[in-house]
Amino acid sequence: MSFKIRRARPEDLPEILRIERFSFPSPWSAEHFRKEFEKPYTIFLVVERAGSILGYGCFWLMAGELQVANLAVDPDWRGKGLGEALLREGLRLGRAGGARRALLEVRAGNLAARRLYEKVGFKIEGRRKAYYRDTGEDALLMGAFLD
Ligand SMILES: CC(C)(COP(=O)(O)OP(=O)(O)OC[C@H]1O[C@@H](n2cnc3c(N)ncnc32)[C@H](O)[C@@H]1OP(=O)(O)O)[C@@H](O)C(=O)NCCC(=O)NCCS
Repeated sequence: MSFKIRRARPEDLPEILRIERFSFPSPWSAEHFRKEFEKPYTIFLVVERAGSILGYGCFWLMAGELQVANLAVDPDWRGKGLGEALLREGLRLGRAGGARRALLEVRAGNLAARRLYEKVGFKIEGRRKAYYRDTGEDALLMGAFLD
């Protein structure tokens, strides 16, 4: 399957929001995404195929650490390697920008995401009990070394 990963642009927002709302119980708002374009430390990527946005990843690069802030793939396009490709590109850019560590939080029950993160080298480093207010679910803290 041919696709390309590129930096997100403001005109991608309607498609990003559609995927976001399908993907999360407490989706980021349009305003939240718009602010990401202004933050100097944000790496905001989309995966595009034939002019359509199929997924996106948002990464924050600060003080030698890369935080995976958001990652989602269109439900119709999951299981085809796009999430992994986005994540690997975010990690590559983070490393190129000086990050030595990558960190993230994931819902304990989100097995697809947990498997993806483990596949690319993340390990569970901690747990925050009842961290997600919408469902009461625990957050797992995962980290990876990028060297
Ligand atoms: C998590 C998510 C981004 C994965 O994207 P994807 O494009 O479907 O994943 P990929 O096809 O790249 O899969 C890569 C690896 O992830 C794991 N994985 C993906 N989907 C999985 C599933 N349903 N069950 C178990 N493992 C899964 C596998 O290890 C897979 O590798 P493999 O194909 O060699 O087995 C996607 O499921 C999604 O958008 N979920 C909703 C949003 C979300 O939860 N984001 C993460 C927030 S922390």
